[in-house]
Amino acid sequence: MCIATAVNMAGGQPISLGNLRRVRELCAKHGIRIIHDATRVAENAYFIKEREPGCADMTIAEIVRAICDLTDGCTMSAKKDALVNIGGFLALNEWEVFEACCNLVVVYEGLHTYGGMAGRDMEAVAIGLGESVQYDHIRARVGQVKYLGERLQACSVPIVVPIGSHGVFLDARAFLPHLDQDVYPAQTLAAEIYLDSGVRAMERGNVSAGRDSQTGQNRRPNLELVRITLPRRVYTQAHMDVVAESVAEVFEQRASIKGLQMVYEPKDLRFFQARFERLG
Ligand SMILES: Cc1ncc(COP(=O)(O)O)c(C=O)c1O
Repeated sequence: MCIATAVNMAGGQPISLGNLRRVRELCAKHGIRIIHDATRVAENAYFIKEREPGCADMTIAEIVRAICDLTDGCTMSAKKDALVNIGGFLALNEWEVFEACCNLVVVYEGLHTYGGMAGRDMEAVAIGLGESVQYDHIRARVGQVKYLGERLQACSVPIVVPIGSHGVFLDARAFLPHLDQDVYPAQTLAAEIYLDSGVRAMERGNVSAGRDSQTGQNRRPNLELVRITLPRRVYTQAHMDVVAESVAEVFEQRASIKGLQMVYEPKDLRFFQARFERLG
């Protein structure tokens, strides 16, 4: 089984230690391993400290450790919580599984001691991991996301609540209720924000959902979201004000927005490379 300690991928809730203990018991009963996607574990640990009864006095590092003790291994894309430009790792508790993975890594990446990474990048990951569990850092990080979310709420912009830890999700269906899903409301909103201010956001709606393989029709997911994800240690609160002002400006103009048509659609994962034109 795989679990991800990632908060608000689209309105999700953080994993609690209590919940994870119950998952652990269930998996142990059925002989199932738990592999943890630890990419955003420090953010999740912050919410556990803030919200879960009995955890307020634990450090972020202790909570991360407790999560890892309840799982059999983890993967990490270190580009997120661990604050680096590149890199990641796989960590495993069982020696036999570790050995099997080492053999595979030699074939595809390089020796298991570096897994295809430069030594200096591994050192940066080591430092980043240490800094990611510092309380003041993670509190400021999650606080900045909350600040942006609350600024948007103050302008009546519809967002997904509760506000998560790595970004704010705009509800494009509520933002542009007059647009059919076939003119891509979330993609349209992301494009309009970019045109207004150069702020780059990400569509998570029917462009991302792709086409039904049987019918060839666009899928029509319930959620049409625009994700404004915040890089760590890059922006100040003043930048958040600029983002909020731009989104609020687009919100003011929303009635005049007509949507997009897709003029180039790649076969796979179209959200990466599709091209659009504004409907006049
Ligand atoms: C929880 C989680 N795991 C894994 C990834 C993927 O990481 P990468 O960009 O290294 O493919 C992401 C990306 O956002 C993520 O949020």
